[in-house]
Amino acid sequence: MLEVSGLTKVYGEGENAVHALSGVDFVVEKGEIVLIVGSSGSGKSTLLNMIGLLDRPTEGKILLDGTDTTVLSDGGISSFRNKKLGFIFQFSNLITDLTILENVMLPLQIGGGGSEESARDLLEAVGLTDQMHKRANKVSGGQAQRAAIARGLINRPSIVLADEPTGNLDSVTSEKIVELIKSMARKLGQTFVIVTHDRQHFGDVDRIITIKDGRAVEAMEVAA
Ligand SMILES: Nc1ncnc2c1ncn2[C@@H]1O[C@H](COP(=O)(O)OP(=O)(O)OP(=O)(O)O)[C@@H](O)[C@H]1O
Ligand SMILES: [Mg+2]
Repeated sequence: MLEVSGLTKVYGEGENAVHALSGVDFVVEKGEIVLIVGSSGSGKSTLLNMIGLLDRPTEGKILLDGTDTTVLSDGGISSFRNKKLGFIFQFSNLITDLTILENVMLPLQIGGGGSEESARDLLEAVGLTDQMHKRANKVSGGQAQRAAIARGLINRPSIVLADEPTGNLDSVTSEKIVELIKSMARKLGQTFVIVTHDRQHFGDVDRIITIKDGRAVEAMEVAA
């Protein structure tokens, strides 16, 4: 379902070249929850950006649902991204003059499996029912982040990529988010690839991949 092989990313050239990823390999099955961990600058966000088709690798392949994404045209990439991928990224900005509910429903305009009812359900799951008619610039940072999580899930993408989804959230809210992620993986068979420093909040997951100096040094399977 997601297969990464020989993934390499070099930013810049010559003396200024930064080898952010140097040959990363792993496979993730449908419905799995995978954590990507590693120290700052190890290449986690770079990896997520490549899987999310936001940037192209220097070398290597990324297969998503059997499609080799590294040979897709730019147009093919954007339609693939809209259909298959969901993003919960750091600083994923909401549109400030729309309400929280309107922001969460925004991806429905590009098609997908959700509805207003599912938007309300997701907002309830992230604890925002009482905030959903407020404008996005009238809520707290943590509330905006939770709205961005709901927005990333509304189209029921088969693969959800999340960069620090529980960063800046208190532990009660973090646990709610983790519960939501686990139930979506179970109910809808959605696959989650999550960069996190909060490993303990996630409890048991299918796999933890540690990135060290641009390499996946450990891909251990944890009993479910
Ligand atoms: N656009 C870019 N141009 C040049 N170098 C970059 C670029 N983006 C990232 N890098 C470099 O690539 C390396 C990996 O960065 P990356 O953002 O993937 O790290 P990270 O593991 O996500 O770190 P953090 O935990 O701090 O978010 C770092 O050395 C970084 O400075
Ligand atoms: Mg990062």
